[in-house]
Amino acid sequence: MTSPTSEQLTISTEPVNTEKGKITLSTVEDFPPGDRRQVKVGAAIIAVFNINGEYRAIYGRCPHQFALLSQGRLQGTVICNEQTNWETEWAYDGEILTCPGHAMEFHVKTGEAIGYGFKLRTYKVVVENCMVKLVL
Ligand code: FES
Repeated sequence: MTSPTSEQLTISTEPVNTEKGKITLSTVEDFPPGDRRQVKVGAAIIAVFNINGEYRAIYGRCPHQFALLSQGRLQGTVICNEQTNWETEWAYDGEILTCPGHAMEFHVKTGEAIGYGFKLRTYKVVVENCMVKLVL
């Protein structure tokens, strides 16, 4: 996947609606696969992605120099470990978010910073009555 265009990146500082513990982001129809959102919740920025129909959310600021992760490219990464019998293998296609600042990689599903031994916070996203909602 490539970096988002300005049309693909919706900056939402005002959630559509809120209910206890959830923020309504959009209708499912208006948040198709490949699309993304950036949501400001208090002082926090959260990046929300639709990866092949699966909604995922991750803390939206890179811990290195605070680049906005919602502007990063989604792709895969090369792994080489015991599970791959120490052979290099392309993995997690479309699930690895590359920071637009200096290319640190994060697995959107787990929050793991690839190769750094820490994780960013992830958030649950649910669909209720055809509405996409971020669970806080
Ligand atoms: S700001 Fe993300 S790697 Fe530097």
